[in-house]
Amino acid sequence: MKKDWWKKKVAYQIYPKSFQDSNGDGIGDIPGIISRLDYLKGLGIDIIWISPMYQSPMVDQGYDVSDYRAIDPCFGTMEDMIRLIAEAKKRDMHILMDLVVNHCSDQHEWFQKAIEDPFGKYGRYFYIEKKSDLIPNNWRSEFGGSVWDLLPGHEAEDLYYLHTFAKEQPDLNWENPEVREEIYDIVNWWLDLGIAGFRIDAIINIKKNLSWENYPADRPDGLASASKMLEQTEGIGEFLQELKMRCFEPHQALTIGEVFDPTGERTEEFIGENGYFSTMFFFDPIIPFLKESLKTRIQTFDPKIWRDIIFQKQKKGFFANVVENHDQPRGASVLIPEGDYSFYSVTALGSINLLLRGLPFLYQGQEIGMTNITFDSMEEFDDTAAKDQYKEAVDLGYSHEEALASVNRYGRDNARTPVQWSDHDQAGFTTGTPWQKVNPNYREINVENQEKEYGSILNFYRRLIAFRKSEEYGDLFAYGDLVPKYESEDTIFAFTRSHQNQKVLFLCNYSHDPKKLELEEQGNVIFVNYPQTTFEGKAICLKPYEVVVLELF
Ligand code: NOJ
Repeated sequence: MKKDWWKKKVAYQIYPKSFQDSNGDGIGDIPGIISRLDYLKGLGIDIIWISPMYQSPMVDQGYDVSDYRAIDPCFGTMEDMIRLIAEAKKRDMHILMDLVVNHCSDQHEWFQKAIEDPFGKYGRYFYIEKKSDLIPNNWRSEFGGSVWDLLPGHEAEDLYYLHTFAKEQPDLNWENPEVREEIYDIVNWWLDLGIAGFRIDAIINIKKNLSWENYPADRPDGLASASKMLEQTEGIGEFLQELKMRCFEPHQALTIGEVFDPTGERTEEFIGENGYFSTMFFFDPIIPFLKESLKTRIQTFDPKIWRDIIFQKQKKGFFANVVENHDQPRGASVLIPEGDYSFYSVTALGSINLLLRGLPFLYQGQEIGMTNITFDSMEEFDDTAAKDQYKEAVDLGYSHEEALASVNRYGRDNARTPVQWSDHDQAGFTTGTPWQKVNPNYREINVENQEKEYGSILNFYRRLIAFRKSEEYGDLFAYGDLVPKYESEDTIFAFTRSHQNQKVLFLCNYSHDPKKLELEEQGNVIFVNYPQTTFEGKAICLKPYEVVVLELF
């Protein structure tokens, strides 16, 4: 396997609005991030991806960019950003920005100019179409409702524009070479500023099915998910190859695509030796529990299904492994069976995240075991997607209580509550009023308390990351093969990792019941989440959620 510099690293996602406030306005900011760099360094983090901080009206929390070359004042200034890049470099850390170029904000000057002159230069930056037999078609946007809205000021002319996400996020027309040039300039401008690369938002959506054909309705609203077209649309590779050659390759940028590819058919094309990106997120293990119909969502988490999904695709590529992010509920709340949250289950989940093959990403707060929050009413949700999730549930015939319970469990706001730094007011996140409610469990779950306790989740993560990157095993975890083991045992999550003449066996009993397992091979214990490991002859007696890594003889 190619030994790229980033393959031995550990990455961390910051959702800036909720990370650390420095000026008491209740919103996390860049000086706040700078003040926590030493903390992240101490945790063992090398690469930091920060969700969008560009100028934005924040309809979708920064994923609606109104100026790609400006920092939104709520996060600070461009000087702060330059200082952040420099401070990270000093610590041998790398900053990744979020590249949001499937769409921009309706407040971006391109869209404003398109409104002024829909058939002029900037009108061609978007998908603006006159009403016809085909337009508006029946595609549903990701946040509910049609992907088509009337162009403001042009209602009488029946002019529509396309938006895959919220109506305030018009899609950019990648078919137009002028749009692509604008994007390449922006990307190169940021890379020249010294960032290491990008996480690339919604990139799979940039190629549209221009036949605008309708699809069979998939919900009672009569619409069909716009993502349906992705299965049929071809030609995205030309855009992505050009983006790579014009921007990423010359800068040797690290790029992580937000690409959904459940079948794995496109892994090689996207992230193989000559792929468009360095790697892409490995969402497969979390999505099946979240994105299916409401019935499936309410289904209880099944560790065996989850494990098998992970194993099916691990072999296919070197993915960016996640257990949660700003779009998903907390891993500790949905990937651990209800009632099983404990030091052991959380550290078992973390160990899987870190020791699988791939580039591990932690999401802020994961390292202390932050959990979902409970909101009492829909008014408490901030996220625009939550409102659609609620509506979907109600449309499907669920009661208000059931719909609310579903959004509470799976909504994106769960991961967007402020990071719990201490047990002081507002969890030490802000001296003001936080933009989003602090999870009331901050008095028990917070960084400051866990710093003081050797046996805390935080200190476990420190040991785990150090183990993953260690002199002795760093190459093995970065470049080693992965072979699933003991797959017939439903609750055992086990695999070997091997590299050159080294081989380790990762064993985890992902269950609240103890499990005795006859081992095929023996070895020395090199990593654990319990103080003691019990063997009985050739068997190992695994306690609930016990993790044991053996170096095989
Ligand atoms: C994916 C991002 O992660 C999500 O937060 C956002 O709403 C959509 N893309 C649209 O940009």
